[in-house]
Amino acid sequence: MSIQKYIDLRSDTVTRPTAGMLQAMFNAEVGDDVFEEDPTVKALEEKSARLFGMEAGMFVPSGTMANQIAIRLNTHLQHEIICDKLSHIYYYEGGGTFSNSGVSIRLLEGNRGRISAGQVLQNINDPENIYSAISSLVCIENTCNKGGGSFYKASDVSEISKICKENNLKLHIDGARIFNALTESGDSEKDFGSVADTLSFCFSKGLGAPVGSMLLSSKDGIKSARRIRKAFGGGMRQAGYLAAAGIYALDHHVSRLNQDHERAKTIGNALSKCSWVEELIPVETNIIVFRIIEEKSVKKIIEELLSMRIKAVPFGPRDIRMVTHLDITDSMTDEILEAIKKIRI
Ligand SMILES: Cc1ncc(COP(=O)(O)O)c(C=O)c1O
Repeated sequence: MSIQKYIDLRSDTVTRPTAGMLQAMFNAEVGDDVFEEDPTVKALEEKSARLFGMEAGMFVPSGTMANQIAIRLNTHLQHEIICDKLSHIYYYEGGGTFSNSGVSIRLLEGNRGRISAGQVLQNINDPENIYSAISSLVCIENTCNKGGGSFYKASDVSEISKICKENNLKLHIDGARIFNALTESGDSEKDFGSVADTLSFCFSKGLGAPVGSMLLSSKDGIKSARRIRKAFGGGMRQAGYLAAAGIYALDHHVSRLNQDHERAKTIGNALSKCSWVEELIPVETNIIVFRIIEEKSVKKIIEELLSMRIKAVPFGPRDIRMVTHLDITDSMTDEILEAIKKIRI
């Protein structure tokens, strides 16, 4: 096997399909999924819905599309979403929330991207007040990317869901990395599926598939979501080749996520001892976010790492992110630890 040129820690989206996954894709039985005739896509949708105890699922090209469809499904014009200020839907989806659904966003200051039921309650607009938008959807992210991979306990999300129900709000869970969260919390998929109106997760992050995400909801919800997906240009034809990668990922790549977390914690621990690191967000899953001292620039550190064949990304004016994943091995982790030690103030 050839040695990879770089150790790529920029994201867990950089993985390439394994030989087993490629074989599963190669063997997939396919049809035209816009005609709802692709058996492998159907199998993946049913498998995913069953896993989370939800009624139905829809395969989509990306996590962004899953979130954007969920927002359109759960809101109307002049409505408002409540979410943490670090949310992917706010930060990294190209302003799609506004252009696709015409809704405003109430941003909350949570704890590393996690909001509480009490905060939600305090931020619901009075529906009788015509000066305000109608609060109609709460979005939470599990794990929270910009929160450094922090995760929710199911009990906290259940509290949020209770407030949503009492106040006629829907709950969407952006679970792009929900399996990383479950690996650490010990909660089950159904703990989250039972409280969400819509829930999305990605096959193309820690699970190592090349493309694809899932949106889960009620049968009626997914029926409407299919129309929205069509309008967003997300209908795919022989998508079974991609769905086969998703099935393979659920069967083979969920149970190994703890290895990514262990490696991330080892790297985080080493970083926390470096004189050029001012602060490390405690590593909870596979995401490592750290702030560097003022005397060093983010650009300089990233260049130094790159000169030692390690790729990382800027994550703010003084912050850097590294993410462990399926393609990072123990020997690469050792190399990363050596490289980190070589960087001087
Ligand atoms: C929390 C979260 N949600 C959604 C997405 C969007 O996924 P995609 O890149 O497939 O659109 C990401 C991507 O990194 C993410 O971190």
